[in-house]
Amino acid sequence: MEQKYFNVQRSFGRSLINNPKLINRFYDIFISSHPAIRPLFKNTDFAHQTEVLKQGLNIAIMYAQGHPVAENTLKVLRKSHGKDGMNIDRSLYKYWIDSLIRTVTESDHKFTPDIEREWREVLQKTVDYISADAR
Ligand code: HEM
Repeated sequence: MEQKYFNVQRSFGRSLINNPKLINRFYDIFISSHPAIRPLFKNTDFAHQTEVLKQGLNIAIMYAQGHPVAENTLKVLRKSHGKDGMNIDRSLYKYWIDSLIRTVTESDHKFTPDIEREWREVLQKTVDYISADAR
């Protein structure tokens, strides 16, 4: 049987090849998607942030695939994003998912409604985990 969410892994790979600036594009879309988001990134070093988010997305895919080690990273992110950390409002997480879907739609020329459904499942699982501690 093919690895679960292999289509998402491949879609992410195609998107990164087609657009090496994919993660920068994501942040442009995400930051403009809600007025509360831009100020959160006012001191952010984006050269660093794009790298860590790329890793974060690989972790999200691995977590959805059931790799136990991925959960350790998500636990750290739940703390940094949660009430005792940056205190990200839980209502903002849907903008994160929608911005990522929009970004991938632009760059993956083989994107289909089925792949979108799988991407949304993957991203939702990570958001559910990270936002469990959110206000
Ligand atoms: C509403 C959604 C989210 C917002 C507003 C948000 C915001 C932020 C902010 C402001 C930072 C710190 C940037 C800096 O150092 O200046 C950050 C870091 C980070 N975010 Fe998010 N984030 C969101 C969701 C997520 C999700 C779902 C992931 C899942 C992969 C993620 C992964 C990361 C990683 C890997 C870092 C770097 C490590 C850390 O600072 O903990 N973020 N995020």
